[in-house]
Amino acid sequence: MPNTVRRIAINTGGGDAPGLNAVIRAVTIAALRQGWEVFGIPKGYTGLLGEPNLIPLTRDAVRGITHVGGTILGTVNKNSPFEYPVKQSDGSTIAVDRSDEIMANFRKLGIDALVAIGGDGSLRMAQRFVEKGLKVVGVPKTIDNDLSSTIITFGFDTAVGVATEALDRLNSTAEAHERVMVVEVMGRYAGWIALNSGVASGADVILLPEIPYDINKVCEKVLDRERSGRHFSIVVVAEGAAPVGGGLSTRGEKEIGREVRLGGVGERVAQQIQELTGKESRAVVLGHLQRGGRPSTFDRLIALRFGAAAVRMLAEGKSNIMVALDPPTVRCVPLTEAISRTKTVPLDCDTILTARDLGICFGD
Ligand code: F6P
Repeated sequence: MPNTVRRIAINTGGGDAPGLNAVIRAVTIAALRQGWEVFGIPKGYTGLLGEPNLIPLTRDAVRGITHVGGTILGTVNKNSPFEYPVKQSDGSTIAVDRSDEIMANFRKLGIDALVAIGGDGSLRMAQRFVEKGLKVVGVPKTIDNDLSSTIITFGFDTAVGVATEALDRLNSTAEAHERVMVVEVMGRYAGWIALNSGVASGADVILLPEIPYDINKVCEKVLDRERSGRHFSIVVVAEGAAPVGGGLSTRGEKEIGREVRLGGVGERVAQQIQELTGKESRAVVLGHLQRGGRPSTFDRLIALRFGAAAVRMLAEGKSNIMVALDPPTVRCVPLTEAISRTKTVPLDCDTILTARDLGICFGD
C-alpha cells in the first residue's frame, strides 16, 4: 500500500503510566525525520471536542522528556466521546455520542493517522474510530500489564519496582511491631503487579483477581507463621481481588463515560484478619504512587522502541494495528486482536508455580 501519511496526531488516554513521554518523544522525532507534521491532542480526545485545539509537536517540544513521568499531553479516563456525560436541567446526566464531532475535526485538520497510546479502554475507543475511517496505530500502555498480544506493556516494570520497594520497607516495620501489613496494589482485572512484586519481595500471601480468596485460608497462613515464631506477615492484595462468592470492593457509583473506581479491598482484608486472628493488622494503599514518577530503564527503552516502531509501521503503509513486544523484535498485531481479550495471570504460569513452591498463600 503506498504511504500517504503526511500529518499525524498522538494522544494519551486512560490512566497515566511511566513511559508515556518517552513514546511521545520517539514518535515525534521519528515522524519529523520522515518529513511528517506531528500534533498532540490534549487530554485524550478532549482537544478535538468543539473548536479543535492541537499542540504542535516540534523537536523542541519533546526535548528532555524521556525520563519524565506523566504525559505532556495530559490524559483522562472519563468523558468517553462515545458516551459523553451531559447534565440535564433536571439534574440527571445522559450519555451523548460525540465521536462524529471528533472525526469531523480529524478530517478538517487533515490528520492522516493517529498514534493512540493507551490501555484496553483507550484502544477499544481507537478501534471504534477505525470503524469510522480513521487510520490508527496503537501503543500498549498500562501499569496493569493486562493487554494481550504483547509480552509486556510499558509502565508495568516501573510500577512493579515501586511496589516491591514499598513491600521491602513494610517488611521491617511489620516485623518490628509484630503486625500484619496488608498492601493494596493496582490491578483491576489482572494481578500482575501483586504477583510479581509479592514474589520478588517474599510476601506471605498474595491475593489476585484471578483467584477468589477464602479469608480463612489467609488467616491460617498468618497463624502458621505465628506458631513458627514469625510474628508478622505481609499480605499483597490487588485492588480487583474478591472473596469466593463475593464482589469487588468499589468506591462510589459507576458514572457515565468512565469505569467504576475500585478500592477498599486492602482495608477489608486487614479488618477480617485482625478479627479472625487477633493479630494487629494495618492496610496500606499504594495507589497512584505506582503510576507516578520516572520510568525504569526497561520502560523507557520499550516506550522508545514502541514509538519508533509505530512510525516505521505507518511509513510502511500499515495501520489499524498495535505495536507489540515479541522479543527480540517489536511486531504489529491487528488492533481488533489486541483488544479481543484481557491478559489475566494464567493460573499455571511459572511465577504462580514458583510462589506455590515457596509456600506463598493465594487464599485458595
Ligand atoms: O488501569 C490502570 C489503573 O491504574 C487501574 O489499576 C486502576 O483501577 C485505575 O487505573 C485507576 O485509575 P484512576 O484512579 O486514575 O481513576
